[in-house]
Amino acid sequence: MSNFTNLMKPITFGRNLVAPNRMYFSSVGFDLCDSIGRPLPEFFEIYESIMKGGCGFGFLSNASIDPTSQYTDRSLKLVSHLHAADLLPVFKTAKKLNFPLGVQLQHYGVSDNHQPNLFNATKPAITDDVSSLTEEQIIAYIDHFHEAACLALEIGAPALQIHAANGYLLSSFLSPRTNRRTDRWGGTPLNRARILLEILRRIRLSAHDRMAIFVRLQVDDGFGTEGLHVEQLEDVIVAIEESGADAITCATGVADTFAKFLGDREYAMMVSRNAARFLKRKTRLPVGFAANIDSLTAAEEILASGDADFVGFGRAIIADHHFVRKELSGLSNEVNHCLWDSYCLRDKKEPLADRVFCCVNPQYLRPQHIQVKYQENR
Ligand SMILES: Cc1cc2nc3c(=O)[nH]c(=O)nc-3n(C[C@H](O)[C@H](O)[C@H](O)COP(=O)(O)O)c2cc1C
Ligand code: SF4
Repeated sequence: MSNFTNLMKPITFGRNLVAPNRMYFSSVGFDLCDSIGRPLPEFFEIYESIMKGGCGFGFLSNASIDPTSQYTDRSLKLVSHLHAADLLPVFKTAKKLNFPLGVQLQHYGVSDNHQPNLFNATKPAITDDVSSLTEEQIIAYIDHFHEAACLALEIGAPALQIHAANGYLLSSFLSPRTNRRTDRWGGTPLNRARILLEILRRIRLSAHDRMAIFVRLQVDDGFGTEGLHVEQLEDVIVAIEESGADAITCATGVADTFAKFLGDREYAMMVSRNAARFLKRKTRLPVGFAANIDSLTAAEEILASGDADFVGFGRAIIADHHFVRKELSGLSNEVNHCLWDSYCLRDKKEPLADRVFCCVNPQYLRPQHIQVKYQENR
C-alpha cells in the first residue's frame, strides 16, 4: 500500500463528503433495468460487488431525468417517487459499506421526430443539435434536472453527478459545433454553459450542504478547433465553481469520436491530463478523470504529478469489480485484466445483447454468438 500514498489519501468533496481514497468507479450504464427504467435484481448485485472492490467512491449509471428519454430500453430513470424508492436499497448498502455513492443525472438529447432511430424503431431519434429548442423547452429541461436531484435528496443520496459530456444534451449546449444559437443560451462559452449553470444553482439551492455535486464535464469533443476543447472553458469552470459544484470529472469524445479516445490510450491520456491540469489552474475544485487507466501504478503517477486530484476506472472495473482491492493487496496476478476492445460499449446498441457483457468477467461473460460477431467485424 505504501507505493500508493497519493491514491490512498482521503479526499473531501464539498463540506461533508469524505471518500477514504482517491479512486472512483466511473459511471457505467450496465443496462440492467426494465423498459420503464426500474432496476432489476442484477443491478443491485453489481453495485454491491463494485462497492466492495476498493474504490473510495463511485457513481450509479446514467439515470435519465426526462420521462421521455432513455438511451436504451434498459437504462435507468429517475423521474418519479417510485423510481427514487427503487434506488433506496443501493444507497442503504452504500451507507453500510461507508461508500460515498452518487447518482448520475442524464439527459440524452433532443428528440428528432424527422429522423429514423436506427437502434429502436419505436422511439424517435436523438439529435445533438440544440439550436431549435424553445426557451420553454430549455426551462423544462432545467426543471427536470432539478426534480431528479430532489428525488435523489429524498432518498438520502450523498452525491450526484450532472452529465455534461459525451454529446448528450448539456454538452451539446457547451459545444460550438452543436450549439449555433444566437440568444442567451448560445454564442460565448459562458452563454453555452448557461443551462448547466442554471441547473447547478437550482440544485445547490435545494441541496444546501446535504449533497456533493459533481459535474462530468466535456473537455474535448475530438473535433479539433471546430468542436469543444478545454481552452474554451476558462471562464466556464470559474462559473461552475461559483454556481455550486463540488468537483469535476473530465470526459472526452462524442459518439463519432469515442473510438479515438477509448481505443488510443496515449491520446486519451494526453488530452485528459492536459485538460485536468488546465482546469486545476483556474479552480479550487478537485478535478479527476478516467481515461484508459489500467494499473494503480499509472494512477498513482498521475496524482503524484499533480495533474489530477483523483482518478477513475470504467472498463478495468467492468472487467474485474475488485481490480483496485486486488492491486492494493499485491494480487495483480489475480486480476481479470480488461482487453480494451470496448466490446462492452457495443453491447449497448447490439440488438442481440440485452445488457452490457464483458469478454473476461466470468460474472457476465458475453454470449459466444455475440462475441464471435464482434470479432468478425472489428
Ligand atoms: C459499457 C460502458 C458504459 C458506459 N456508460 C456510461 C454512462 O452511463 N455514463 C457515463 O458518464 N459514462 C459512461 N461510460 C464511460 C465511462 O464512465 C468512462 O468515462 C470511460 O469508459 C473511460 O474510462 P475507462 O477508460 O477507465 O473505461 C461507459 C463506458 C462503458 C465502457
Ligand atoms: S468487454 Fe472488453 S473492453 Fe469491455 S471491460 Fe470487458 S474486456 Fe474490457
